Amino acid sequence: MMNRDEIIKIVSANDTTVLSFPNRGPWGSSYYRGNCSGYIPAFFIWKYDAASVAEIFAGSGTTSDLCKDMGIPYKGIDLNPEPARKDIITMNILDDQVELPDEFYSADLCFLHPPYPGINNVRYSTGMWHGTAEEIAQDIQEMDWKRGMQAVNHAIMRGYNAMPAGSFEVVLVGDVRSKGQYHSMIADLIRPTELHQLFVKVQHNCVSDRSGNTYNRSDRALTAHEMIAVFKKPSGYEIAYVVPHEYKLDVRDSSMATWKDLVAAVMRKLGKESSLDEIYKEIEGHKKAESNPHWREKVRQTLQSGPFSHTGRGKWSFAA
Ligand SMILES: C[S@@+](CC[C@H](N)C(=O)[O-])C[C@H]1O[C@@H](n2cnc3c(N)ncnc32)[C@H](O)[C@@H]1O
Repeated sequence: MMNRDEIIKIVSANDTTVLSFPNRGPWGSSYYRGNCSGYIPAFFIWKYDAASVAEIFAGSGTTSDLCKDMGIPYKGIDLNPEPARKDIITMNILDDQVELPDEFYSADLCFLHPPYPGINNVRYSTGMWHGTAEEIAQDIQEMDWKRGMQAVNHAIMRGYNAMPAGSFEVVLVGDVRSKGQYHSMIADLIRPTELHQLFVKVQHNCVSDRSGNTYNRSDRALTAHEMIAVFKKPSGYEIAYVVPHEYKLDVRDSSMATWKDLVAAVMRKLGKESSLDEIYKEIEGHKKAESNPHWREKVRQTLQSGPFSHTGRGKWSFAA
């Protein structure tokens, strides 16, 4: 237990967008995988002067315990059929037939620390607690990246729709590396309204620190932070969301690629001295060519002005 003044003294000393709390505090359980420091919700309760808190993904009860010490009402939900605290109820946030508890409709702050989909060594329904096959299928941790991020974004929208105008939604997310793939949750996060502010949470004592991993010889650095996105609800009715969307197309069909981009891509692909006919063949029939009746002239003009050299035998190559 800590008292409100002690907590506020600690969090208010860190009043920047880089949140660094080496201790997690006496709240929740450090054994619960993916638990977070109670100083994180404490900082936002202090910062936004929140008089009540609601939480999706309540886990080991960190925010529940903290709110008791802060002396404010709290309500949480989690998929766990045996919730860690009395003020946490069992609920699948992906089931839209089930309504969120009333407290979500009046809380000043809605906190979400979702599962990080695709991390292999963190398990909720098959580790921290034991779920039925149905619960396991709804556990966001068990989902692959794409489905998991859709589920996280669904949860963010559900929290947002319940929130009263003027309240804050605070979402703590991380980076995931699994099977050689790197993903960053913040990059794929839905934004239900204008972003109010972004924070960096410095990671302390995480499992990847202790494993002694160093990435000296890799072209990626060791992840030592998480990110926190804060949204402030402007009005009662408005939803103005942005969802990151994945596009995949051939550069030869892209209206955004310039002629220099396109010819450079073709010359790199051909990888050798090439005749105009060979170059045309790569471009013909693609949207960029179809959009310009004089595309062959455009290609010749680009070859003459860009990083390409005319080798003298009617052939062109990428300039060395
Ligand atoms: C990262 S943990 C939260 C940890 C928490 N911040 C703490 O300090 O203990 C994510 C939680 O999401 C829960 N969860 C997974 N899928 C869910 C779903 N579909 N609906 C509700 N909760 C879910 C898991 O049971 C887990 O407790």
